[in-house]
Amino acid sequence: MILEVKNVRKVFPGVVSLDGVNFQVKSGEVHGLLGENGAGKSTLISILYGVYLPDSGDVFINGVKTEIKSPRHANKLGISLISQQFALVPTLTVRENLELAGVKLGEVERYSELLEIEIPLDRAVTQLTMGERQRVEVLKALAKNSEILLMDEPTALLSPREVDAFLTLVRKLADMGKAVVFVTHKIREVVRVADRITVLRRGRQVGEFRKPFDERELLEAMFQTAVVRSRREKTVAGDTVYRAENLVGERVFDSSVTVRSGEVVAVLGVAGNGQDELMELLSGFKRVRGGKIYLQGFDMSGKPYVEFLKRGVVYLPEDRSRALARELSVLDNFKVRCTTNCREKLREVIEILDIDVPDVRERAAALSGGNQQKLLLAREILLQKPTVLVASYPTRGLDMETTEKFYKIVRERCGAVVLSLQDVEEAIEKVDKIYVMSRGRITAHFTPPYDFDQVAEAMAA
Ligand SMILES: Nc1ncnc2c1ncn2[C@@H]1O[C@H](COP(=O)(O)OP(=O)(O)OP(=O)(O)O)[C@@H](O)[C@H]1O
Ligand SMILES: [Mg+2]
Repeated sequence: MILEVKNVRKVFPGVVSLDGVNFQVKSGEVHGLLGENGAGKSTLISILYGVYLPDSGDVFINGVKTEIKSPRHANKLGISLISQQFALVPTLTVRENLELAGVKLGEVERYSELLEIEIPLDRAVTQLTMGERQRVEVLKALAKNSEILLMDEPTALLSPREVDAFLTLVRKLADMGKAVVFVTHKIREVVRVADRITVLRRGRQVGEFRKPFDERELLEAMFQTAVVRSRREKTVAGDTVYRAENLVGERVFDSSVTVRSGEVVAVLGVAGNGQDELMELLSGFKRVRGGKIYLQGFDMSGKPYVEFLKRGVVYLPEDRSRALARELSVLDNFKVRCTTNCREKLREVIEILDIDVPDVRERAAALSGGNQQKLLLAREILLQKPTVLVASYPTRGLDMETTEKFYKIVRERCGAVVLSLQDVEEAIEKVDKIYVMSRGRITAHFTPPYDFDQVAEAMAA
């Protein structure tokens, strides 16, 4: 099967999201899709999945001009989307979910054997890791006889180990004759699985590349300039700004974290090991059940969240939708923290972070995923000067250039920084200290020079 678009154009108010793009994916191949935030990747996926019709240009399936009218229609045509918003009912078991989706269990079992992936049929979805949920979605798509699998940043929520397993799975899918479209910001991932790679930039196609790929060439196509990946500079850490001792929450036990002035510290762990709750405790968003928190010498233990806010603690939750009101305008979202000269200040931060906003009165939901994240960072970090920034996965969904900017900005603006991160490499490259969390406890900590294997091993233990 071949799915193809020719010369497609898609315009949203104020933005040309796709302009004269040609793209093709066929059975047996993985076609990678790269591009900076706002380049048009998700829009292209939406067109292939029947969410939008193109304004001009055509879609062809096996050479026959076809109008994909809706996602349901796409499913009928053999096209599935493996979305990050898993279409699973969390409280039901996997088996019940599969029944609900109307897929044949026998087929699911057949594919899980064929691909050598196990799924716990009788466990509730809430108890599954992100990787397991994703595998359920893939099996569901296969059991529905999908020939084409669309994946928009499928690895964004996965731990390093799960990413590895997932990439192997993607390769197997192609080898068994499926067609896969794979969107990611991680060049290394796409280089590993893809047969060809298309790069989009500001809605235009800047190139189609084939194996063997040259990472530098891809980067240059994405950003048109070479992105300089900077390593952590030697930081001169000052006094201890923030100290948490033996914190206890619901799933967090006996965890201590110390951050000195000017330091950026990361908590690494496989998802579900308590780091989300730890971030909530560290930021004061959730009250601790035990342990002590000292901020610039003040005892903050057990104090309400407003006290943390007053002292300049900024908390960025993992889930963007908890911090952004998607249906409100970009400007109104900014005003959550801004009180005076907001339009002007918004214009400034849009400039600094290069946020794609055609109109500040546009709904936040209309921004691309990465641009929503940039807006949030702008509001929380550029508008105020946090004494302490506590952020869960702040760079998720950001392109490489913006990720670079993020670290530069937090070093300039924040007194002290604690991040939870997924990517070992990113942590090693950027932060001054790494804590590893496992089963609710901090089980190891590292300072530079880091040893990748040691850190990865501690995470897996
Ligand atoms: N529903 C919409 N309404 C208005 N504008 C939109 C809509 N969807 C996308 N856009 C605009 O189209 C452009 C491309 O967005 P798209 O989501 O395709 O980018 P992307 O490449 O997926 O970026 P990211 O890496 O940040 O996810 C952006 O400028 C975005 O604001
Ligand atoms: Mg996107």
